[in-house]
Amino acid sequence: MHIPRKGRFALLSATVAGAVVAASISVIGTAEAATTLGASAAQTGRYFGVATSAFRLTDAPYMSIVNREFTSLVAENDMKWDATEPQQGRFTFTNGDRLVSHAQANGMTVRGHTLLWHAQQPGWAQGLSGTALRTAAINHVTQVATHYRGKIHSWDVVNEAFADGGSGGRRDSNLQRTGNDWIEAAFRAARAADPGAKLCYNDYNTDGINAKSTGIYAMVRDFKARGVPIDCVGLQSHLGTSLDPTYQQNIQRFASLGVDVQITELDVQQGSDQASIFAAVTRACLAVARCTGITVWGLRDSDSWRTGQNPLLFDASGNRKPAYTAVLDALNAGGPATPGSPSSSPPVTGSSPPVTGGCSARVTLDTWNGGYVATVRVTAGPAAVNGWTVGVTVPAGSAVTSTWNAANTGTSGAVSFRNAGYNGQIPAGGYTEFGFQGTGAGPAATPTCAVG
Ligand code: G3I
Repeated sequence: MHIPRKGRFALLSATVAGAVVAASISVIGTAEAATTLGASAAQTGRYFGVATSAFRLTDAPYMSIVNREFTSLVAENDMKWDATEPQQGRFTFTNGDRLVSHAQANGMTVRGHTLLWHAQQPGWAQGLSGTALRTAAINHVTQVATHYRGKIHSWDVVNEAFADGGSGGRRDSNLQRTGNDWIEAAFRAARAADPGAKLCYNDYNTDGINAKSTGIYAMVRDFKARGVPIDCVGLQSHLGTSLDPTYQQNIQRFASLGVDVQITELDVQQGSDQASIFAAVTRACLAVARCTGITVWGLRDSDSWRTGQNPLLFDASGNRKPAYTAVLDALNAGGPATPGSPSSSPPVTGSSPPVTGGCSARVTLDTWNGGYVATVRVTAGPAAVNGWTVGVTVPAGSAVTSTWNAANTGTSGAVSFRNAGYNGQIPAGGYTEFGFQGTGAGPAATPTCAVG
């Protein structure tokens, strides 16, 4: 598989995760902090991508920003079914190929979007049903994934197949009516066609723990149990003016199933909280080792499908917005590196201790062979908390190599974690989270928590 220039750094970071994390954290906050989204994300082995279109490739001012800032491209429309197979059996890859060529020439990886979706189907497919549609759909997956074999980092094999609302079930569509197994059939066909690509399920309104994301979670768990090839879940993250407080927890639960998570179509409605929401999404991804990359759904506000909402990181003139700076700062604050070949295991969750001294803490572990990421939730008791310290016993042979959203004293044995400047205050009954990465086995005992 082609390993592009910028991708090589990511791969190196991932392969020697512990050592590189320690090294990259040490430069954060110095004059060496990365100055582009892609370079900063690469410090922890992640990509930072943008959705674009082949017709933009000749727009020099636009492309200068793309080439400067991003390490991954995704076709906003050029690889969809209506674009790649406008007539049955006649494929047009020209625009997708141009994007892939540009990415390869500039050291970027490519996300493939999307092989099967109920929307943007060519007219001929919309007119099919039953076995004819199933056969055509699987042929489409096979032909497109084969054409791009070896060139795609991750494919959105199936897009938006779950229903909105509280059912947690599938969306009705012509594809769904071919039988509930259409999704796994698509994943199996994609794996056969391109064994090197990560295969993702991608959806929206899944940006927290809710009925829809739980339905998808159950499907992924079932696929993993039955050996259906799935490697990643895409959270589109088309966000409004607030962020679900379970956003990171949701990422973590998918990661704990043994799949990667990618933020695939991020945009945030402009409002007073736009920058902080962008930053919170970035921090949440960085806090989960298996959250491997973020893609924004367009470059400038004027390019967005959300007309009038100005939901992106650059204004219409290509200037960096406050949201851009917030994301870059969050990326430069770091987080655990993406592990190379993690064997994810179910989370080990400590029981919540009684609330004494005004706060409690519990640890969730994501472990792999030789290391772990610990996510620690600090919960305030019946009174608001102003400053907290969490004590963790790190077992013999284990050492903390990096910490985010807190500052640690000590790296082995009894380690204490003091709040950062921005998360010391927790409202009564509320919580905040911090995390750390370590070598060896993670802490087993429930941590202590003290306020003040
Ligand atoms: O290219 C034709 C042009 O020739 C024609 O004159 C014009 C007339 O309407 O249409 C143009 O096609 C449009 C296409 O974007 C390219 O601009 C389609 O009408 C329009 O429907 C299409 O919208 C895209 C939309 O998906 C389709 O559902 C948006 O650009 C794209 O941002 C959006 O992306 C989706 C993701 O794929 C999945 N998740 C949600 C996300 C936002 O809706």
